[in-house]
Amino acid sequence: MKISKSPIIDKHGLCINEYKNNKNNAEVYFKRAVGISPEMEVSKAMANVLKNRIKKNDKILDVGCASGHFYRSLKSRINKNFYYTGVDPYKIFLKKANIAWKNDRNSNFIQGNIYKLPLKKKNYDISFCSNVFIHLNDIVRPLKELIRVTKRLIVIRTVVYDVSYKIQLVYNNKWWNDTNVKPINEFDKKGNPRAFSYFNIHSFDYLRENIKKISPNSKIKFIKDNFFDTNKITSSSKNEKRPLATKILGKEQISGCIMQPHYFLVIKL
Ligand SMILES: C[S@@+](CC[C@H](N)C(=O)[O-])C[C@H]1O[C@@H](n2cnc3c(N)ncnc32)[C@H](O)[C@@H]1O
Repeated sequence: MKISKSPIIDKHGLCINEYKNNKNNAEVYFKRAVGISPEMEVSKAMANVLKNRIKKNDKILDVGCASGHFYRSLKSRINKNFYYTGVDPYKIFLKKANIAWKNDRNSNFIQGNIYKLPLKKKNYDISFCSNVFIHLNDIVRPLKELIRVTKRLIVIRTVVYDVSYKIQLVYNNKWWNDTNVKPINEFDKKGNPRAFSYFNIHSFDYLRENIKKISPNSKIKFIKDNFFDTNKITSSSKNEKRPLATKILGKEQISGCIMQPHYFLVIKL
């Protein structure tokens, strides 16, 4: 089958070139899911944030699960029975997830989009969503969806600062294989990028006030993600050879030239 490299913008304003045919990312996530590659620092940290909050037989949802690599980190730290469901829109990741976890009885994977999760109301005790919000155009609908499907607790790991920034990383075919956009055409006549991915930063206030509007009785906490081992991030950025893999500058994580102060946003419903 011929794979189109023309930019495709979906109805949520997202350019889907980044993931749809991204074999390299699928391989990276698969190797982590089966334990060939080391755990990501963030999946260890997420498992530690969740560890004491998980109860026996909880149903846990991971939105933007890729190939279920966070499940490996959860399983190795949580010694209670629990059930894991991973959701991702892209078949290329889900196929690998189903191979990685084919003999596991407590996990399943569902194709779905955070803008309209194909899941029932209050079906999960705990939901988490890591490194997805930065790539979304609008985050209010995704917040509503997570709150709709969750009973007790939501943990969102994303980049947060005092003020918001809306950032588009612009692809061209000189450094990004999955686009046919040439450097000279990066932007259209209106100045909009043709193939892009969001790397947004959301303000504490924007997140807090929107969550309060959707779920007035919820309790919200931001935990700075300082849990990473700098050397491990540096070595994985070298080994994976992915363009713009996370690096460290001072005590902060950076992607390309963008500083990324990551937080775990904990919402108790
Ligand atoms: C940067 S990866 C993060 C993967 C993993 N959660 C982590 O933190 O390592 C973003 C993931 O979100 C998924 N994703 C992108 N757009 C999405 C959407 N609209 N709804 C749900 N997942 C989405 C991608 O397919 C990908 O698996």
